[in-house]
Amino acid sequence: MPSWSTVRDLLDRLESAGIHLDCPLSPEIVPVEWDAVPSEVGPTGGMMEGLRAQRKRWQVENIVHMLRGVVRPGSVIVDFGASSGNLGLPVAACFPESQVYIVDKKPRTVDIARRRIEQSGLKNVSLYPGFVQEVTFPFEIGMGLHLCGDGTDQAQQLCLERGAVYVMAPCCIGFIQRSSLPYPRSRLFADVLDRQEYDWLASAADWTCRDESSEQHGRGKRCMGFINLDRNLAAEEVGYETAHFTMNPSDATPKNEIIIGKPSL
Ligand SMILES: C[S@@+](CC[C@H](N)C(=O)[O-])C[C@H]1O[C@@H](n2cnc3c(N)ncnc32)[C@H](O)[C@@H]1O
Repeated sequence: MPSWSTVRDLLDRLESAGIHLDCPLSPEIVPVEWDAVPSEVGPTGGMMEGLRAQRKRWQVENIVHMLRGVVRPGSVIVDFGASSGNLGLPVAACFPESQVYIVDKKPRTVDIARRRIEQSGLKNVSLYPGFVQEVTFPFEIGMGLHLCGDGTDQAQQLCLERGAVYVMAPCCIGFIQRSSLPYPRSRLFADVLDRQEYDWLASAADWTCRDESSEQHGRGKRCMGFINLDRNLAAEEVGYETAHFTMNPSDATPKNEIIIGKPSL
């Protein structure tokens, strides 16, 4: 576990190299009309209740809001790390002319998604059990809500290779320390930090917590922001336009950032 002074030195070096963080609160988002979709589609259909379900609704609404500008009739959208479909099902309901694929490595959670799809009557969702890296079909938009560790990077990489839009809200950033992918992701970061230093930054990115006013959260949030900035910079280096937001409301989750990228015209 790195000390804060070690991590702060890394952040200072990034800023001295002209790498600056800008992760504003998302502009006010248009809510999903949950009452207008089958009950199995919302988080309560995924067996969440109370505040937990409300927080998942906010997370989903933030991603749906970002998708509104990019989904076209016939778009193929992949929910990477979909689990039981808490994001993929509402997206399918909100964009009925799209086709949504549920991708997850855990067969048990995909079975729950299958039941929810059957009970909801949604016709535009397909199941694709397996790893992110195993997706071979064509798609235009890749999304991920709390896809752990390097799962986000695997999914983003696939999007970049396919020229697809990505919309990701990453979590469990510290897990990337175990990844065989190269980090930092961007050349800009790699000119400043080596892999060991980046792993320390990734580990500190998981310090975010529910008390948003705490010093611990502030430190973690800054580190999380830089890791997500590195992901967007890697996309910009291959010709993408990107954006980086904090979910609205910010207490939707401690892992409350969204990165978006689309190929420049
Ligand atoms: C924290 S859950 C999030 C589930 C859902 N997106 C949500 O927000 O409710 C992360 C999911 O990603 C899946 N996952 C992680 N890495 C993956 C990978 N490389 N390929 C496929 N699924 C993966 C896990 O099995 C898990 O179900």
